[in-house]
Order: sequence, then C-alpha cells, then structure tokens
Amino acid sequence: MSETSHENVSEKHLPSEQENGHGAVAVADDPFADPGLPPHEPRIQDIDERAAKRSERVVAMLFTASMLATLGFIASFVLVPVDKIIYVWPAGRIGALNFALGMTLGVALFCIGAGAVHWARTLMSDHELVDERHAISAEPDTKAKVMEDFAQGAKESALGRRSLIRKTMFGALALVPLSGVVLLRDLGPLPGDKLVHTLWSKGKLLVNENTQQPLRPEDIGVGSLTFAMPEGLEEDDEDFQQQIAKAALMLVRLEPDDIKDKRELDWSHEGIVAYSKICTHVGCPVSLYEQQTHHVLCPCHQSTFDLSDGARVIFGPAGHALPQLKISVNKDGFLEAQGDFEEPVGPAYWERRA
Ligand code: FES
Repeated sequence: MSETSHENVSEKHLPSEQENGHGAVAVADDPFADPGLPPHEPRIQDIDERAAKRSERVVAMLFTASMLATLGFIASFVLVPVDKIIYVWPAGRIGALNFALGMTLGVALFCIGAGAVHWARTLMSDHELVDERHAISAEPDTKAKVMEDFAQGAKESALGRRSLIRKTMFGALALVPLSGVVLLRDLGPLPGDKLVHTLWSKGKLLVNENTQQPLRPEDIGVGSLTFAMPEGLEEDDEDFQQQIAKAALMLVRLEPDDIKDKRELDWSHEGIVAYSKICTHVGCPVSLYEQQTHHVLCPCHQSTFDLSDGARVIFGPAGHALPQLKISVNKDGFLEAQGDFEEPVGPAYWERRA
C-alpha cells in the first residue's frame, strides 16, 4: 500500500481522544504503517562483470545440457530395444527404454528449469516493484471499443451473410474433436479376459518366489508366510511384471481345526491355504501376517483379512475377501494348483463377476 493511502486511512479512521470517550489515549500514528520496501542490495553480479559472465556461462551450460539430453531422448527412442531389461539400483529390473526415456527427458526439463532459475536469481533485475491493485473491470470506453471492434470484425468477415461458410465452419469445429476420441483406440489392445484369468491352471506347481524351487507341504512352516508364483514364470520374461501382478500367491499353514470356512478347508491341503497376495482395495501386495490371530494386513491402507475365515475383510477399505486358490499335492509330493482363481484377483472393476 502506498504512503498516500496510509495517510488517508490514518486521517479518516483512527479514533481521537474525544471520539472514544473512555479517557484512553488515542494513537496518533498508524500502528500498522507500511514499512516500505527494504533498500535494494546489489548482488555480486550487479557490481562485478566477471561474476555476471560466470553466471551467464552456468546458465548457458545448463541449457546446453538440456539440448544434449533431448538429443539423447531421441537417440534412445530410436536405438534402445523395447524389450531390453536392465538392472538399476534401487529400482531393480526395469525396461531399458523406459529408463533411458525417463532419465533423458527428466534431465532435459530439469536443466531448463535450473537454468531459468539461476538466470532469474543472478542476472535478471531484482528490484522490487509495487503494483497497486486496480479495478478488474475495464473502463466503459475500453468496453465500447472492444464491442465496436468485434462488430466491425464480424461485418468484415461476412459471417452473417455467408451462411454456407458459417454452417460448414461450425460443422468442422464440431467434428474435429472426434479425431481425439478415435486416437483413444490406440491406448492399447482391449484387455479381453486378461483381467479375469491368471497363469494358474490345473497341475501348475507352486514355486517359491525367493528360491524359485517347487514347494512341498513340509516347506510351509506353521506361522510363517510363504510367497509363491506359478512354475514356468521367469523374471526375465517380457511380461513378468504383468503376470506376477495377478498370480502372486501367499501360503500359510493353519491348524485345520482353526479354519472356520468350509470351502477354505476343502481347498486347502493339511491346513495349508493359498490366497492371492494382491489386496482387493487398490492392489498393493498384502504382506504383514499376524500368526496368533491369522490376520494378514495390507500396508497401504491397513485393510485386514482373516485367513482363518475365507480371508474376509475385518477392517479397512478393501471391498471383498482375498481370492483363494484351490491346491493339493501331486504324486511327487509337490504342491500344485487345482485350477485358476475362481474370481478376478485384486481391486474391483466394473466388469467384475464375483
Ligand atoms: S491397497 Fe490394500 S488397503 Fe489399500
């Protein structure tokens, strides 16, 4: 606020000793007077041309790095095979193309941002200015001029007289967004029944996710949580992430007498129950097991499932129980699936059947 406006406020609104009538001492000066802007402190770049040159070189270097990163982005797009997998700490195994595109684009954008910030902080003028607030609406003269110009433009375009042009133009403008809608088709092939099925099928062995070895009943100890995946699924497979995201399994051994749900008991083997590891809320891996209560907890939003009672939800936002996989033991003594899950795993979706 300017000095003038403060003076006006002080004159008009501060109570005088006579006005308040309580004998209080009136404050003569505005207690909230605008202290004004602090004096301008020149930066090193304002007084030393060599420092300014240095800053200029830093900004130019950042912009050049951005250009190189953009060229790297284009080169990666052309040269890196789409199915190449690399190991990057701490992310683990990821697609080389995604990594290269993400890194180069990230560096390109970061360098532009960093260059602009450094430029603004060191070389652009840093004088503070005050711009008084003014009315948002335009002056009547300005409004009248705009309307006049608009009417003149409409008249000169002959839009009113040339109805054929007017109609076809509106038609073209109405249709052009359709091309965007058609492009949505390119978002990928329709999922088909991929959301409903997993890699599990009758006779597929349960393989320990850590050791990659087929599991026997004696490998599953009471009170422990074992993670399993279907045999034949390899970490190097191109679609490993998609498949494991649906087929991930957790195994727990319970006392058969503790199992309350009859179907759960029928689908288990000697108290070993197999459930989908994918939370039915928004798909986090469920992984915290309380052996005393047989509750398993999802770390994302604390949905809790009771593994001794059909994995029904006893707490949290998950909408339904974890799907159970029916298992048994084959003639060689290994745990095997008796089929696929009977319902889609993971979060609910609009075509969900169960
Ligand atoms: S994803 Fe498991 S509770 Fe939200």
